[in-house]
Amino acid sequence: MRTDRTFTMIKPDAVANGHIGAILAKINKAGFRIVAMKYTQISKEQAETFYEVHNERPFYGDLTDFMSSGPIVSAILEKENAVVDFRTLIGATNPSEAAEGTIRKQFAESMSRNAIHGSDSDENACIEGAFHFAGTEMF
Ligand code: RTP
Ligand code: MG
Repeated sequence: MRTDRTFTMIKPDAVANGHIGAILAKINKAGFRIVAMKYTQISKEQAETFYEVHNERPFYGDLTDFMSSGPIVSAILEKENAVVDFRTLIGATNPSEAAEGTIRKQFAESMSRNAIHGSDSDENACIEGAFHFAGTEMF
């Protein structure tokens, strides 16, 4: 299992608020190389599959409604120690607990509208990247 790739989505709130450019700049500045990227919208069914691990949680319906509510930017990113370093860059799930300088601290509105997704393991990074991109879309 490779350890140098992660998967991200700039979530509908951050896209609607005009933060795509600023978030990508922070990602580039932190040393991540873009392997794949697209501006797209996922269906409710795709959001349910993507967040299947949370399907028993009370927030599952709201989460999948929100993630399918508008366009997102999805991407595969490459850097040594990608998953862990990217989670550090995005900050805590709840932006009120996110460290200064993190993407969620700067751009998230709330726990449910928290600007960005980052894979939580190397295995999930691989699964999530393959969910969004064909091999021919990775460079
Ligand atoms: P993500 O998967 O989106 O990168 O977020 P995460 O790892 O930081 O958090 P996770 O536990 O995977 O939860 C996925 C998303 O569900 C929403 N959530 N709401 N109300 C709640 O208690 C609650 N807990 C999680 C968040 O929007 C979170 O990003
Ligand atoms: Mg997660």
